[in-house]
Amino acid sequence: MEEANQAKRPDRVLSGMRPTGYMHLGNYHGALKNWVDLQSQYDCYFFVADWHALTTAYDETHTIEEFSQEMVVDWLGAGLSPDQCTIFMQSKVPEHAELHLFLSMITPLPWVERVPTYKDIINSLQDKDLATYGFLGYPVLQAADILMYRAERVPVGMDQDAHVEMSREIARRFNEIYGRSSDFDASVMSLLEDQGEPFKRDFLEHHRGYREGGRQASLDDGLALVSSSPSLSRRESEILEGYLRGTGRVILPEPRSLATKTPLVVGLDGRKMSKSYGNTVQLRDEPDVIEKKISRMQTDPARVRLKDPGDPKKCPVFTWHEIYLDEDQREWAANGCRTASIGCRECKQPLIDTISDEQTTFRERAAEYAKSPEKVQQILVEGSEKARVIAKETMTEVRAAIGIANA
Ligand code: TRP
Ligand code: SF4
Repeated sequence: MEEANQAKRPDRVLSGMRPTGYMHLGNYHGALKNWVDLQSQYDCYFFVADWHALTTAYDETHTIEEFSQEMVVDWLGAGLSPDQCTIFMQSKVPEHAELHLFLSMITPLPWVERVPTYKDIINSLQDKDLATYGFLGYPVLQAADILMYRAERVPVGMDQDAHVEMSREIARRFNEIYGRSSDFDASVMSLLEDQGEPFKRDFLEHHRGYREGGRQASLDDGLALVSSSPSLSRRESEILEGYLRGTGRVILPEPRSLATKTPLVVGLDGRKMSKSYGNTVQLRDEPDVIEKKISRMQTDPARVRLKDPGDPKKCPVFTWHEIYLDEDQREWAANGCRTASIGCRECKQPLIDTISDEQTTFRERAAEYAKSPEKVQQILVEGSEKARVIAKETMTEVRAAIGIANA
C-alpha cells in the first residue's frame, strides 16, 4: 500500500524549527541534514516557527527576526533549495493562529498538562515565568502547524515525538466532533459513481467486510484499492478512507512522525551540544575556528600524557569519529588511543579536516545569501505564499465543518 501511495504522489512532509540563529552541528545532524535528504523524495514544507519562539521569549523579541534570518541562511547553506522544497515563515501564514484557536477549543486541558516537554522546559528555564496560557498551548500551536498542511509525515527528533502524537490525538478528536456532516454518505456515493462499476462494487464489498464482518483484511484491501486509484485526489481518498474506517469525513488527517536515526551530537565540553552551553561548532565557522575549537575539545580524562592509554568509549571526540570518519580511520583512532601510539591532537586531525571540508560548501553557499538578505526574504515570501494556498483551503474546510463564518 505504501508503494502504491508513493507512485501516485509523494507524501507531504512538514517540519519546523524555532529561530535560534546560527545553526550548529547538533542542529545539523539532529534535523537539518535529514531535511536536505528528504527534499528530493517528498513534497516538503519547512518553516521558521517564529511564533513558537514567543512562547518562551515573549520578552526578548528583538532577537527573533535576526535569528530567523540567520537560521534560514544556514538552511540554504546546508543545501535546502527553494527549487526542491517550500521554505516559509509561520507568522506569514496567519491561518496558523486561527486553526490554533479552533484546536484550543477542543483540546482537553490534561492533554497539554501531561506533555513531558512542558515540565522539562519550565524546570530548565527557572528564571522565566512560563506559567502562561501561550506556553501551555505550545503543542496545540504545533498541532495547528502540522494539521494545516495535511502532512503525512513529520520528521522530528525524539524530544518532539510527544508533540506529534498529540497532533494525532487532536486531529482524531476534531474529526470525531466535526466530521459527520449530513451530506457525507451522498458525497461517498457520487465519488464511487465516478470511479466506475468495478471499483464501486469492490469498494462496497470491502466496506461490508470490515464494517459488518469486522475483518481487518477487508479494511486493508479497501485502503489499498483507494490508494491505488490514480484518478482520486488527496481529498477524495480521504473521504473514502473515512467512510471505510467509519470515522466519518477526515477533515484533518492524522500525521505520522518520520523516525530517522539522528545521532545526538555532544558539544566540545562533552555535554549535549547546545547554543546555551557555548559548546558548539557552527556551520559557518571558518577552518581556523574549527581547528581551534576541536583542538580544545574534551577527550578521555585518563589520557593526561601521551603515553597514557585511553578508552575511545569514554571520549567525546570519538562520538564525532563515529559520525564523520570511515571504518579504517576509526580503527586507526581507536587502536592508537588504546595503545597510546597516537596523541589526541593527532587523533583529532582527520576530524578537523573532514568537518572543515564539508562545511566549506555550506559556508560559501551561505555567504551568498548572507550578503543579500533580500534574497532570503524573497524565498520566504514566495514560500509563504505557496504555503498559504494550502492553508486557506484547509481553513475553508475547517470553518465549514465547524459551521462558522465561511461567507
Ligand atoms: N517544536 C519544534 C522544536 O522545538 C518546532 C516546531 C514547531 C515544529 N512547529 C512544528 C516541528 C511543526 C515540527 C512540526 O523543534
Ligand atoms: Fe579521544 Fe582520540 Fe584522545 Fe583517544 S586519542 S582520548 S579517542 S581524542
